[in-house]
Amino acid sequence: MSTTATTTDTKTFLEGKSQTFGERYETKDLITFDENAVYGDWRDEFHENGCVVIKNVISREKAQYYADKQIQWLKKFELGFDEKDPSTWTAEQLPVSFKGGMYFLYGSAHEKMSWEARMEPAVRDIFAKLWGTNELICSFDGMNISMPKRTDVQWSPWPHCDQNPRRKGRSGSPELLPPTAKTTFFAEKRDSADHEDAPPPEIEFMDLFLFSKKDVKWFEDRGCELVKINMEPGDFVLWDSRTMHYAKFPEGDQIRNVQYICMTPRQFADEDALAAKKWCFENYVGTTHWPHCNVRSAAEKPMRNGELCPKYRTEPFEKPEVNDDMLRLAGIKPY
Ligand SMILES: [Fe+2]
Repeated sequence: MSTTATTTDTKTFLEGKSQTFGERYETKDLITFDENAVYGDWRDEFHENGCVVIKNVISREKAQYYADKQIQWLKKFELGFDEKDPSTWTAEQLPVSFKGGMYFLYGSAHEKMSWEARMEPAVRDIFAKLWGTNELICSFDGMNISMPKRTDVQWSPWPHCDQNPRRKGRSGSPELLPPTAKTTFFAEKRDSADHEDAPPPEIEFMDLFLFSKKDVKWFEDRGCELVKINMEPGDFVLWDSRTMHYAKFPEGDQIRNVQYICMTPRQFADEDALAAKKWCFENYVGTTHWPHCNVRSAAEKPMRNGELCPKYRTEPFEKPEVNDDMLRLAGIKPY
């Protein structure tokens, strides 16, 4: 794989900088779901609520395998983390993360385990069923490894959606409400909440919008409620990018292991987006959840107390075994 920056027709990829490619949000619907369709499976709940838990997508044994791999990954940094010793569950003894457990730097999005999870046939089947095609491309997402009872991190709820409010969606505007409350929140101009995690305004096309307490109340007044999703190892939670959500800090005793995965039809992507994906793939750079447009390369460097993390790396510890099937899923080879 190459570590040199390549160029597309329109943009130059810059080393060490996060950029957005394949910018697109004012588009017509790429797919129209029949609102009256009854599928007789998880799709009914998904389209009704914007979120569904699909049980036992992979076996408990397989889930344990991925959890173990993630823990091993944390230990490879040799910063003192020990999964059996909660006193080592501190930022100093862990690689740099976002919100106390979201990892997308250090080439993590392209670790062998992350690719294995994306390649799981049952995982791909979910997206194939949702979109009605097997010709899918995936995001190069990170993972979430959160330890409970952390005392060294400040954490606050951060209700958000994974979509720019200016992006047009179903019915010509992003409807974040279930059919019981059809009013459109973003019909009026809305400002992202003034939150520590709000993206800086100069970052255009960022698919993250943070809601304020007032916004949450706006939804609650229209019959919506925030519900806690409970899952067991091997379950898969699928949510619509327009659905308000956040990952709560673990409250029990267990470490939580999550791999973020998203897939959309390849036909949604334009050449610019595909070129950006190729560059990200070849340089082990991660992206947001979005596979087909607004490919925002996560090429920031991990900073620790204002300085570059001494464990900074640009390649996975364990590289994936590349094959044609993976290259198709990555968006590099056509179907
Ligand atoms: Fe999110």
